Amino acid sequence: MPSFADFDRRNYPIVDVATGYDGWAPTYEQTVMDEMDLALLERLHRPDWARVRRAADLGCGTGRTGAWLRGRGITNIDGVDVSAGMLALAGTRGAHTTLAQADVRDTGLPSGAYDLVISSLIDEHLPTLAPYYAEAWRLAAPGASCVMVSYHPQFMMVTGMPTHYTTPSGESVAISTNLHMMNEHMSAALETGWVLTEMVEALVDDAWLETKPKWAGLLGHPFTMAMVWSRPGQS
Ligand SMILES: C[S@@+](CC[C@H](N)C(=O)[O-])C[C@H]1O[C@@H](n2cnc3c(N)ncnc32)[C@H](O)[C@@H]1O
Repeated sequence: MPSFADFDRRNYPIVDVATGYDGWAPTYEQTVMDEMDLALLERLHRPDWARVRRAADLGCGTGRTGAWLRGRGITNIDGVDVSAGMLALAGTRGAHTTLAQADVRDTGLPSGAYDLVISSLIDEHLPTLAPYYAEAWRLAAPGASCVMVSYHPQFMMVTGMPTHYTTPSGESVAISTNLHMMNEHMSAALETGWVLTEMVEALVDDAWLETKPKWAGLLGHPFTMAMVWSRPGQS
């Protein structure tokens, strides 16, 4: 299986996830763009957001995903994240019912209690995906959905760009980044029992190039994707 290190063109110093996001937290919201993830959620036909009673937001960050879910009428949302700095901002935002500092692979949240498990832009920080999909399965009630928004592996391979941020002193720092091919998602999720029910991809288009003109060479390439997995059963 290819490794991100084989494609890394930046070779920035690398920090672990908690250190990186604690450092990025104060400027994170100025750098992440809704087109990367929230625009993909808008395009999904499932799950039926109006029917979601309780959601687990794994890798909730500053609460952007939670706020989007609230905008869909979901008011019972438990968030977990490993970064205290990101969680503090999520607390200020107030989109979540509960927030906890925990790993997405061992959340401490109750089993079988959620009809939606969602993660946005976190899987590149996981060395392997099976523990994530297994924990999501543990949390999911029969009929639940697991929505996973990710950087597209093609984008990561073409750009060679790790997830990174700029420190106050102007240094670029990479946060431990892993490449996951589509078949890794398929194997890990299908073996857990999840069934793929929808997938959408975001492509670099003219609107993107207005914001990021230096991406002109990427026009038409995918940059993010969203997969919707379902746990069979009646909700
Ligand atoms: C790019 S941010 C995305 C945050 C939020 N989902 C959003 O869309 O803005 C990734 C988040 O995942 C968290 N994260 C990454 N790996 C994690 C892990 N193994 N356990 C818990 N949180 C993790 C990071 O701390 C960070 O807050």
